[in-house]
Order: sequence, then C-alpha cells, then structure tokens
Amino acid sequence: MSKETEKRVVVVGVAGRTGEPIARSLIDSRRFLVAGVVRPESVGKPAIKELEGLGVSIIPLDWQNAAPRVLEALFTDVETVISACHPAAIADQAKLVDAAKAAGVKRFVPSDWSAIAPRGALKLEDMKHTFHDYLFESGLPYTLIALGTWYDGIFPPIPPYIAPTAERQLIADTVYHSFGTGQVKNTLINRLNVGRLVARVIDDEDTIGKKVLVNEDEASLDEVWSLAEKYAPQLAPLRVRVSDEDVERTIIEGAASSTTFDLKNVKFIKGLFNEAMKSLYISGHNSEAAARADGWIIARERYPDVPLQTAEEWAKEYYGGSRR
Ligand SMILES: NC(=O)c1ccc[n+]([C@@H]2O[C@H](COP(=O)([O-])OP(=O)(O)OC[C@H]3O[C@@H](n4cnc5c(N)ncnc54)[C@H](OP(=O)(O)O)[C@@H]3O)[C@@H](O)[C@H]2O)c1
Repeated sequence: MSKETEKRVVVVGVAGRTGEPIARSLIDSRRFLVAGVVRPESVGKPAIKELEGLGVSIIPLDWQNAAPRVLEALFTDVETVISACHPAAIADQAKLVDAAKAAGVKRFVPSDWSAIAPRGALKLEDMKHTFHDYLFESGLPYTLIALGTWYDGIFPPIPPYIAPTAERQLIADTVYHSFGTGQVKNTLINRLNVGRLVARVIDDEDTIGKKVLVNEDEASLDEVWSLAEKYAPQLAPLRVRVSDEDVERTIIEGAASSTTFDLKNVKFIKGLFNEAMKSLYISGHNSEAAARADGWIIARERYPDVPLQTAEEWAKEYYGGSRR
C-alpha cells in the first residue's frame, strides 16, 4: 500500500501496555498510517523513540483536558480511533467520542481489552458498560473488542513474583489462588500479539457495529496449572484452591471497604480481583462458547491465517526462561 491509500489510525495511550504492541502490529501490517497520543509527561518513555523509529507519529497531548477543537483537529481525516487508555480514564473517553463524531471518524474502538462480563458482574466492566451507553447514543460507528485475559495475568509465575502494577503488588499473595471447579474455560492471549488480530478487525468493514473477541486460545485453570507444572514442576505445591464461599466473602468485604474506586485499599482490590475470578472461573462468562452465544465474532475463526501462540507454546516459552 502507498502512503496515499494507507488508512489513518490514531491510538490514544500508545505508550501503554496495550497501546504500544497494537501500534507495532498496525505498522507491521503495512495497511495503516499510525499516529499515537502520549501525555506530555510521558514523552521521555523509551517506547516512544522506538515507535517513532517504526514510523508512528507521536502527538504529545493531555487529551483528558484538551479543548474539543484540538481533539477534532487531531481526528480530521482519521479512519479509526483506537483507545487504549488507562482504566482511570474510561469515562473521559466521552471527549474522544464527541471529537471523533464531529471529525467524521469511521470507527471508534474503546479501551475495553478485557474479558466479557455482563452488566453488574464487575465494577470495572460496569464503568466500561456505562461508557458504551454514551458511545452507542452518540451514533459514532464503533467496534467493541474483548480479549479475555493476558497469559501472564493467569499463568502462575515462578517466585519471586514482581507484580506489573502497584495495585496488583498489594494483593501479590493471591497470585497462586485457583478458583471454581478448575474446569471452566477462559479465553487467553499474549498481550504482545493482540495487534495482529486487531489489524484485521479494523480493516474489515463487516465488524463495524459488532463485538469481536480477540484471543489466541482458551484454557481452564486445571489446564493452565497442568501446563505450568509440566514446564515448572516446582509450582505444583503453590496452588491454593479458594472455595466459592471465600470468594463471595471477599467480594462482600471489598464492597463494604470503600465507597469510592479506591485502588490503594487492599480489601477493595481483593474484592475486585475475586469478582473478576468469579466471573471468569465460576460463572464462566468468558469462554468462546459463552461469547459466541452472546453474539461475539471470534476473530481467530474469522481470520484463520493470522498466526497464534497457543497456551502451551506460551507456557513453554514463559517457563523456559525467555519471558515476554
Ligand atoms: N485483558 C487483560 O488481561 C487486561 C490486562 C490489563 C489491562 N487491560 C485493559 O486494557 C486497557 C488498557 O490498560 P493498560 O494496562 O494497557 O493501560 P496502562 O498501560 O496502565 O496505561 C495506558 C496509558 O494510560 C496513561 N495513564 C497511566 N496512568 C494513568 C492514570 N492514572 N490516569 C490516566 N491515564 C493514565 C499512560 O499514558 P501516557 O503513556 O501517555 O502517560 C499509559 O501509557 C484497560 O481498559 C484495561 O482495563 C486488560
């Protein structure tokens, strides 16, 4: 494709854990001209230089506080806006929607990138559902994309465990907890590979106005632990089975511990974590079968030529030493 025919995409949160690998894959696909929004305080992140080297135009902008006309100018002649913003900024995406609508953007992909959960099941997902209502009412064309869970959020790590975020570090003791019967499937993906399928989804007119599940594999917790034990046998004694009653109690204690979305409060975060695990591994909201029944397109079925990393391949690589 020439520069004239490449489709213009803006990734908001391009230096984040989700945004950066998506931008890389969009560039790799040679189908898109990619620009990425970075908050001014983050322009020094090492990822920025690398993205620029790959051809991503970096736009330093405090988008949450930007004037509507600035965002509208940013989105002029842009085909797709992909939001990979932080969970704390979910509601602020309304500003992106207003500007994208005014600029005539053809598709908006909100910062979901999580597991499928019905309204009322998870506090974080309910914030996303509330934002979706705004998006739907705006009339802006959209595609919703769910992943399930990143492999490294589910496979037990070899100790010592160093959490990826401050909040996760506060509940680091839960990293070997196992929920439900162990046999409920959940969809999984390597965070670094999400963009391979996303590049296809946003190049497909038929996914406008649709919900698409982007995953590489699915596995139950018994299957996850069996792979973990195969490649790192020392993990076997670390598995802690949590009863459904304990899950319920932790959720209730978490909800009672804070009236705000308090990510410094250990009880509150434990409550959120157990809510998520209940949804995935007790209620079974996020299997491919559940997604299909709820009208989700399964990207790996729709684009069977896209290479995938199976759970077994991921485990072999992760426990083999070359962790990604
Ligand atoms: N499926 C899964 O397993 C999974 C796992 C994690 C996250 N997610 C979802 O993926 C989406 C993106 O999450 P992420 O983990 O990729 O995000 P992230 O990397 O933590 O943050 C994305 C960007 O948000 C900005 N940011 C950081 N802290 C912020 C704050 N307190 N308030 C406002 N902005 C902030 C930063 O932008 P600058 O670099 O421009 O400063 C950062 O690069 C979310 O919807 C999240 O729920 C899914």
